[in-house]
Amino acid sequence: MSITIDPDWWKTLFDEVYLVTDARSVCNEEITRREIDLFCNLIPMHPQDRILDLCGGHGRHAMELCKRGILNCTVFDYARPLLKIGAENAERQNYPVRFIQGDARDTKLAEEEYDHVLILGNSLGYIPDKNADLFILRESFRVLKSKGWFLLEVTDGNTVREKLSPIAWHEMGDDVVVCRERELKNDAICAREMVLSKQKGLIRDKSYSIHLYEPQQLAALVTKAGFIDVQICSDSATCYSEEDLGCMNHRLIISARKP
Ligand SMILES: C[S@@+](CC[C@H](N)C(=O)[O-])C[C@H]1O[C@@H](n2cnc3c(N)ncnc32)[C@H](O)[C@@H]1O
Repeated sequence: MSITIDPDWWKTLFDEVYLVTDARSVCNEEITRREIDLFCNLIPMHPQDRILDLCGGHGRHAMELCKRGILNCTVFDYARPLLKIGAENAERQNYPVRFIQGDARDTKLAEEEYDHVLILGNSLGYIPDKNADLFILRESFRVLKSKGWFLLEVTDGNTVREKLSPIAWHEMGDDVVVCRERELKNDAICAREMVLSKQKGLIRDKSYSIHLYEPQQLAALVTKAGFIDVQICSDSATCYSEEDLGCMNHRLIISARKP
């Protein structure tokens, strides 16, 4: 098996179908609540703080922070479909979250605007250019205020390497079946994802590749971007479920500060 990857896959994968295929992790309010409980224990977030949820998708973490009275949240993401859904949800619930579209390597956001920058839910390692993640970390550093906190949560590369099953499938509701074929290639997990609707037939056949980070390697990259007090909060990270959630089972969390 060898999976062929379009290097720009990350520009089109994150849409309404992704919210179905990954609903077990990204549309589960209980999981998001538990994640925010954990993150609030790791970095001190206060009601008046300005928070940037970078690569924030449809804004599930920002919305949960709003529920807890932290209202000054910005979600920044490349995927217009997710931003649109997030903005509609926020409006419905009367949360003043800002949703901004762009590339996290060069956000055009003002310098030193945020008290905290969060990159959550395995949103790094998508772009094949080997400096892309460093650019995203440097951009996080640039928009963060001095003494501000940075929090990064990705899938734990070591655990993925140990536990990867090459084939996985699950059903979503009565209609959808998600099948994933996976392989490890160099330092990345490559996957082909086929999504079948019993009503409509094949609705997705896409492949993607995500760089796998080990704790020390990611901590070194965060340090290279300029951060200090870099802490690996959990070596084997948090296992949220016994189900096979693709890249979302085993997380590696890093906290750091801007000097
Ligand atoms: C797995 S999703 C996670 C979304 C969100 N953080 C969550 O936990 O629900 C990864 C997100 O990162 C975004 N992303 C990846 N690379 C990006 C980039 N260079 N610029 C902006 N967004 C990016 C994708 O569009 C996608 O919404």
